[in-house]
Amino acid sequence: MKQENVPYEKQIFVCTNDRKGESPSCGDQQGEAVFKELRGIAKERGLHPRIRVAQAKCLGQCNRGVNIMVSPGEIWYHGVRLEDIDALVKQHLQS
Ligand code: FES
Repeated sequence: MKQENVPYEKQIFVCTNDRKGESPSCGDQQGEAVFKELRGIAKERGLHPRIRVAQAKCLGQCNRGVNIMVSPGEIWYHGVRLEDIDALVKQHLQS
């Protein structure tokens, strides 16, 4: 095993877990769509992969989705909806 610094300036983990209604999950609130939109914007702006938008398969707060965790900074968002994308982009996806 080798240890090194994180190779990304920032990582934005978007929960896309979808339990298909069997129990609450971020998939109930369009987690996949939020992820795709954020990742698409990061790519369009040439930020990816320096700023990496990644899927998470559960961040452990399933009733509060869509959940997003941003590192570094240990920032957490919950209840994210597609209409919040502009605010997230302004906060985290500037060149
Ligand atoms: S399903 Fe998203 S936090 Fe668990």
